[in-house]
Amino acid sequence: MNWRALLKPSAKYSVLALLIVGIVVGAVGFFATQQTLHATSTDAFCMTCHAGHSLKDEVLESPHGANSAGIVVQCQQCHIAQEPFNYLVKKIVVSKDIIGYLTIDGFETQEWLEENRKEQAELARNYLRSIDSSTCQNCHNRIYEDPSPEMKKMAVRMHAMNFKKAPEDRKTCIDCHKGVAHPYPKN
Ligand code: HEC
Ligand code: HEC
Ligand code: HEC
Ligand code: HEC
Repeated sequence: MNWRALLKPSAKYSVLALLIVGIVVGAVGFFATQQTLHATSTDAFCMTCHAGHSLKDEVLESPHGANSAGIVVQCQQCHIAQEPFNYLVKKIVVSKDIIGYLTIDGFETQEWLEENRKEQAELARNYLRSIDSSTCQNCHNRIYEDPSPEMKKMAVRMHAMNFKKAPEDRKTCIDCHKGVAHPYPKN
């Protein structure tokens, strides 16, 4: 490689100049997406559309908001797969909710949530099933192989029985645990 060639004007600009422009543009684009993804992952962002819904208060009253550890689990920590690829996929799926937000009559009201909670809960559960409740497992990562000595005997036994099965026969967390953050609808 002749380094001089890099500095020579191509048609109008030197190859080096073009390269630098390319890197700058690429970097701006990269950080812009990182920033947007970040900004769209806060509870405040979720609650801009779900503003009329009691979802955040429900979390605060649940073991995921009121615990002795002083941890409040965020919406996206449960609802959006944290692996980069799945994260992007879910983000793109969620962006369809903009259309729902604009077109569903009365979406912003608590009445709408109560009337549709069952259906919405199943949608949320189907998504979690499709990722094998990986979001739950990110935090609860000692459930199966290394349960804490404080865990209830009954819980240790149930989890061990499930873990003994072949991976494809195992239940996923949300099959057994309903309503860990919101009241699970009765009917
Ligand atoms: C642009 C407005 C908007 C934003 C922002 C938004 N949502 Fe929603 N969300 C909706 C609408 C509309 C529905 C109902 C979708 C339907 O049934 O078509 C919904 C439904 C849901 C559901 C149940 C249905 C499902 O597909 O799982 C969950 C869970 C959910 N949202 C979580 C979140 C979380 C977590 C965030 C923040 C990362 C968020 N939402 C941000 C508009 C929004
Ligand atoms: C960001 C970390 C985090 C995520 C994600 C998370 N949890 Fe938790 N979970 C906790 C913490 C912290 C507690 C409270 C522990 C305590 O009270 O000592 C808890 C408590 C629990 C409990 C015990 C509740 C009780 O009644 O005492 C269950 C069951 C549970 N989580 C299941 C789940 C399931 C299912 C998911 C996925 C939908 C999930 N968790 C996602 C951190 C998390
Ligand atoms: C086969 C059903 C089943 C599956 C699958 C299951 N659990 Fe459980 N789990 C139970 C039962 C039963 C208990 C004890 C009663 C209770 O606390 O709800 C329990 C208790 C717990 C507790 C509280 C334990 C304690 O004593 O502190 C946590 C946290 C928990 N499970 C998380 C999970 C997570 C995360 C997954 C997925 C990796 C999971 N469970 C999968 C049945 C199950
Ligand atoms: C600890 C995990 C966890 C957290 C934190 C959490 N959710 Fe959920 N969410 C679930 C699960 C699991 C379901 C499926 C239904 C069920 O089991 O209650 C659900 C269901 C929903 C639904 C469908 C309606 C319903 O009540 O079932 C919406 C909408 C929703 N969540 C939005 C949110 C928003 C917004 C936040 C943040 C303020 C949030 N969630 C925080 C786990 C969580």
